[in-house]
Amino acid sequence: MKSLEMKNKNILLGVSGGIAAYKSCELVRTLVKAGANIDCILTKAGGQFITPLTLQTLSGNPVHTDIFHLTEETDVRHISLADKADLILVAPATANIIAKVACGLCNDLLTTVICATKAPVLFAPSMNVNMWENPITQDNIEKLKKYGYHFIEPGEGMLACGYEGKGRLAEINTIANTAKSILE
Ligand SMILES: Cc1cc2nc3c(=O)[nH]c(=O)nc-3n(C[C@H](O)[C@H](O)[C@H](O)COP(=O)(O)O)c2cc1C
Repeated sequence: MKSLEMKNKNILLGVSGGIAAYKSCELVRTLVKAGANIDCILTKAGGQFITPLTLQTLSGNPVHTDIFHLTEETDVRHISLADKADLILVAPATANIIAKVACGLCNDLLTTVICATKAPVLFAPSMNVNMWENPITQDNIEKLKKYGYHFIEPGEGMLACGYEGKGRLAEINTIANTAKSILE
């Protein structure tokens, strides 16, 4: 792995509801080790797979889960998070989150922040092979690439759902190195 240095970089990590969400914990550790400041948004479905407490402990920052959060009312959070980020990284990125962003939907905190940001956005998709090969998913990805969104190809192999094929979350080091090269 190339040496990873991301000092003073603010990365907003979006964790959506795929089985690979547990791997985002290792990703946070890797990025923190490289010196990055990590803020996390966990989608409602993501919260079925891992807890905010884990991400909060590993990142050292509060984890955001809800667009309507009344205890921090001095700050319009979806705008402050969108402005603070040097990079938004969505890992794992579900078929659903990719589809919502491709449609310009803003119906939760993560999609709203992505819509509001001027920062680069990098998706690391992970899903069942049939979801990955679905032409609608592929069209959504092509559309987002045309708008300048970045993607890391998933790997091939045995998937958690029991299928074999493309859809595994890319290796953590590959994701971290891709994030670094976008930030340079
Ligand atoms: C056990 C289980 C595993 C899932 N794994 C994935 C997955 O790996 N990738 C994916 O795109 N969706 C997966 N889903 C479906 C998503 O959780 C679902 O589409 C959800 O609406 C995603 O919401 P989000 O994109 O807001 O996080 C899974 C669902 C279940 C119940």
